[in-house]
Amino acid sequence: MSRKILVTSALPYANGPIHLGHLVEYIQTDIWVRFQKQRGNQCIYVCADDAHGTPIMLKARQEGITPEELIERIGREHQQDFADFLIAFDNYYSTHSEENRYYSELIYTRLKEAGHITSRTIKQAYDPVENMFLPDRYIKGECPRCGAADQYGDSCEVCGATYTPADLKNAISVVSGASPIEKESEHYFFRLQDFEDMLQAWAAGGHVQSEVANKLDEWFNDGLREWDISRDSPYFGFRIPGTEDKYFYVWLDAPIGYMASFRNWCDRNGVDFDEYWKPDSEAELYHFIGKDIVYFHALFWPAMLDGAGFRKPTKICAHGFLTVNGQKMSKSRGTFIMGRTYLRHLNPEYLRYYLAAKLGSSVHDLDLNLDDFIQRVNADLVGKLVNIASRSASFINKRFDGKLADTLEEPAMYREFAARGEAIAEAYEQREFSKAIREIMHLADQANQYFDDRKPWVLAKDPATLPQVQAVCTQTLNLFRVLMNYLKPVVPRIAREAEAFLRLEDQSWDAARQPLLGKTIAPFTALATRVDRDAVDAMLEESKETLAATTPPPSGPLADNPIAEQVEIENFAKVDLRIARIEDAAYVDGADKLLQLTLDLGGEKRNVFAGLRSAYEPEQLKGRLTVMVANLKPRKMRFGVSEGMVLAAGPGGKDLFILEPHEGAQPGMRVK
Ligand code: MSP
Ligand code: ZN
Repeated sequence: MSRKILVTSALPYANGPIHLGHLVEYIQTDIWVRFQKQRGNQCIYVCADDAHGTPIMLKARQEGITPEELIERIGREHQQDFADFLIAFDNYYSTHSEENRYYSELIYTRLKEAGHITSRTIKQAYDPVENMFLPDRYIKGECPRCGAADQYGDSCEVCGATYTPADLKNAISVVSGASPIEKESEHYFFRLQDFEDMLQAWAAGGHVQSEVANKLDEWFNDGLREWDISRDSPYFGFRIPGTEDKYFYVWLDAPIGYMASFRNWCDRNGVDFDEYWKPDSEAELYHFIGKDIVYFHALFWPAMLDGAGFRKPTKICAHGFLTVNGQKMSKSRGTFIMGRTYLRHLNPEYLRYYLAAKLGSSVHDLDLNLDDFIQRVNADLVGKLVNIASRSASFINKRFDGKLADTLEEPAMYREFAARGEAIAEAYEQREFSKAIREIMHLADQANQYFDDRKPWVLAKDPATLPQVQAVCTQTLNLFRVLMNYLKPVVPRIAREAEAFLRLEDQSWDAARQPLLGKTIAPFTALATRVDRDAVDAMLEESKETLAATTPPPSGPLADNPIAEQVEIENFAKVDLRIARIEDAAYVDGADKLLQLTLDLGGEKRNVFAGLRSAYEPEQLKGRLTVMVANLKPRKMRFGVSEGMVLAAGPGGKDLFILEPHEGAQPGMRVK
C-alpha cells in the first residue's frame, strides 16, 4: 500500500548563502524523498526560507534595502543553489507569507485560549541610540569571569563562562556602539511545562533517535520552563494579535512555516491539508534537522502542535555537523565552502555521492575529507560503477549494432542482484545511506569480476566466440542497470542519463526485476568523468579569496588593527560629514575622558561630548576647524545630550589628533 509522507528540511535563514554544511541536510533529505517516490509512495517535500528576526532586519538596514527586498533576493539565490544540487522540493516558500501568518495566529490563539500563554514584564538590555532591545548576540563587552575583551552577551569564547548581558563589563551595543541600558517591557510566554507528560510519552515512543531521547531526558530532568515567544518593535516578523507592537519571536513562526509551505502546495494541487495535519492523521510527518535545533523540534514544536489540536511528527531525523578535512569549516583554510563556489568547480552529484557514502542515521558529525572525496568518487562511482557500462556498451554498440542478446548468460546472478533490492531499500528507509552504498559497491565489484573473468576482449578476437561477447555484455549491462537504479536517489542525473542510454522511461524501484533483452540501446556517452584534483584546489583557493576581499591580510602594518567589514557605498553616503569650528571647549565635571565642545556649523550650533581630554587642553582646541559627523542621532549621556561626533585619528591617550581640513574650508561645508 502506498504511504502518504510529508517531509521537511529545516528552513535556512534568509540572511546568507547556502554552504556545504547546510547541504548535508538538504542532500540527505532529498535522497530519502527521491527514494520514497521511487518506491511508489506519495511523498511531498516542502521547505521555505526562514525570513524573520533581528539579524535579517539589521542586515537589510545595513544594505540600505527593505527586509522584503533582502529576503526576496536571498530566497532566489537559495532556490537556485538547491536546484543546481538537484534538490527537488515539491514546494519552496517563505515564512513571510500569508499562509504562515494565518497558521501562526491560529496556533497562538488556540494556545492562548487553552491557557498556555502567559505574560509578564521583564528587564532586558536596550540600545538607547537605536531605540531597540538587544538580543544577547548584539551586545559585546569584557567577560565578567576572565576579563577577555570583545565577548558576546551570552557566553565567553575564551573561558567558556555563560552569563547574562547585564554581567558584561564595559558592554556596548554592536548595532550603535552605545552602552546598553536596562529597560522593562511586557513579554508573552508559552508554558512548555504544561506539556511535560505528553512530551515524555512522545519522546519514549520512537519518534526521535536514541541519542536525542537521551538528551531530552536530561532536559526533562532539568525541568521544562516557559518560553519567551514575543519580541518588541522594531522587529521583522508577524505582529501578535491583540497587541500594538509585539511580534512573534522568529522561532515561533519558523516551524509553522512547514505547515504554511505545505498549505500553499495543497492549494495549488487540490490536496486536503487537514488529512495530513489532523490529530489522528494516517499520513507520516518527517522533519530532517541539524542537531543544533533539536530543542525547538523535539520540545517546543510537538507541544505547540499538541496544544493547538494538530498531529505531532512521526519522526525527527537529526544529523550531525559537517567538518572539512577533520576540522570545523574555516574561512582562513578555505574550507568554509559555499554551495555556489563548489558548483563553479565540481559536479553536484559527486558531493551527493560522497555524503551518501558517509551518512548514517546517527547524529554524529561527518567529515568531508577532500583526498578521500577524490578517491571515492574516482575509484567507486566512476571506476567501479560507471565503468561497468562503458566497458560493455562499447562492444554492444560496435559489434552488435547496439542490440542486446535475447537471454541472460547468468540468470541466477541477475536474480541475486534484483533480490538485494529489498535490503538496500531497507537501508535507505532507515537513513543508513552508507550501508546502502556499501551494498551497491559490493555488487559492483561482483559485476566487474564477472566481466573480467569472461574476458570479452579476448572472445571478440575469434569469430567463433563472438556471440558470447554479446551474451557477456548483455549480462553486464543488465547488472549495471539494476545497480544504477539502486543508486538513483543519490545520483539522479547520472541515473537519468543511464536510463536514456538504455532507452528506458523513469524507472520505479522494482522495474529492474525484469531484465532487458533483445532490445536496441543508444550509443554510449560518458556518464561521469573523474574528479580532477586541480578543480578541488581551485575551489579551496576561491573560498579563501572570498575572504581576502572582506578582511585584511593577517600580517603587515594593520595586523593588530584590522580593517572593519566592508560597507556599501550607500551606507557610507548616509554619514553627513561637515566642517565645524570649535567655538568653545571645556572640561566636564566627573568625566576624566571627555571635553565638552561647542561646535559652529556655519550658523547652527552643536553641543558635543568628545573623548579628547587625554590629548588636548580645552585652550588648544578653541578656534580650530575640524570634521564632524553632523547627522549622528543625538545621544543622551550622563552630562547632557551629545549632538554629533568629532573625528580624530590615533591609538588613543596622548596620541590622538583631531582631523583638520585644508585652508579655505568653511564651517558647514560638506566633507566628500
Ligand atoms: N532557520 C533555522 C531553522 C528553522 S527550522 C523551522 C536554522 N537555519 S540555518 O540556516 O542556520 O540552518 C539550516 C539547517 O542547516 C539546520 O538544520 C542546521 O542544523 C543545518 N546546518 C547548518 N550548518 C551546518 C553544518 N555545518 N553541518 C550540518 N548541518 C548544518 O537553523
Ligand atoms: Zn571569559
